[in-house]
Amino acid sequence: MDTAGLWQPDLGYLDTANYGLPPRPTLERVRTALSQWETGETSWEVWDESVAIARGHFAELVGTDESRVAVGSTTSEQLGLVAASLPDDAVVVVPEEEFSSNLFPWLVQEQRGVKVVVVPASRLAEAIDSSTTLVATSAVQSASGDVAPLDDLSAAARHHGALLAVDATQACGWLPLRADRFDALVAHSYKWLCSPRGASFMTVSPRLLDRVRPNAAGWYAAEHTHAAYYGPPLRLSPDARRLATSPAWFSWVGAAASLEVLAHIGIEEIHRHDVALANRLRAGLGLEDSNSAIVSLEIEKSAERLERAGIRASTRAGRTRFSCHLYTTTADVDRALEALSG
Ligand SMILES: Cc1ncc(COP(=O)(O)O)c(C=O)c1O
Repeated sequence: MDTAGLWQPDLGYLDTANYGLPPRPTLERVRTALSQWETGETSWEVWDESVAIARGHFAELVGTDESRVAVGSTTSEQLGLVAASLPDDAVVVVPEEEFSSNLFPWLVQEQRGVKVVVVPASRLAEAIDSSTTLVATSAVQSASGDVAPLDDLSAAARHHGALLAVDATQACGWLPLRADRFDALVAHSYKWLCSPRGASFMTVSPRLLDRVRPNAAGWYAAEHTHAAYYGPPLRLSPDARRLATSPAWFSWVGAAASLEVLAHIGIEEIHRHDVALANRLRAGLGLEDSNSAIVSLEIEKSAERLERAGIRASTRAGRTRFSCHLYTTTADVDRALEALSG
């Protein structure tokens, strides 16, 4: 894959599941925005244009229409909007391995009567039944890198009339996904979408949009934001933009630039590259091939050995977690293997 000149990471960055690295155009545009801010030479509208640009790229990436995409700042805040709108007698089914941003928004609803059924991820599909209101899962698990059986989950949810919400924060950017298969797909862009923290997206199906109260609505949830600064009446956007929260501008300047670079390279190409490198690493560690860009396993004293060799990876749930993304090279993988073999 030709990413020459776009990224220049230190050798051995295998930690995109923690945070992704920005391509050069992203840094340039954020730096420009920061100098504009320093001197006051422009109006914020110039930065704000990035929100619509990023939203358009995201819609294309996940194969949906822009009108179904709401912008936000974090996964938990966007899922929280959905969670707060469930009826008091709702039943939510969620895997116990979930990252808390897709667990706590549901668990806090227990105070008002919502029942949250927590099961091992491997038993999620069979835990869905006619009492289920909503199933929530990550497309790719944060700690293990396991790719969820989205076909099975979507079939089970459809069969029982349940809503399906997917946290794609560890997936969007390397795993091709079609958002319209789900009622909600949420992705924070600071990992695999190589953006600054603070720019996240949520796609919403028409039936879910009907049910979600825009609890965080402000001027940015209006149909015409400039005409919504002051006074009643409530005038919300008819589409998913009514679930938007006002943007952290500089994060969006970066996100628009990064999404443009990723769109140019193409998700299929990134997918092939990332999984091939992860499988090279797996082979070197004596594991079978898998379908993930994340490799997670227990290795004795790995943190010290990797740190000594200048390799960045994470420790999650007692296991070492490596992630391979578009700036990862075979040299990075081989260096990690060498560090661990010593
Ligand atoms: C699966 C998953 N979702 C969400 C997040 C981030 O959550 P938030 O955007 O609420 O900070 C992470 C961070 O590691 C994650 O792994």
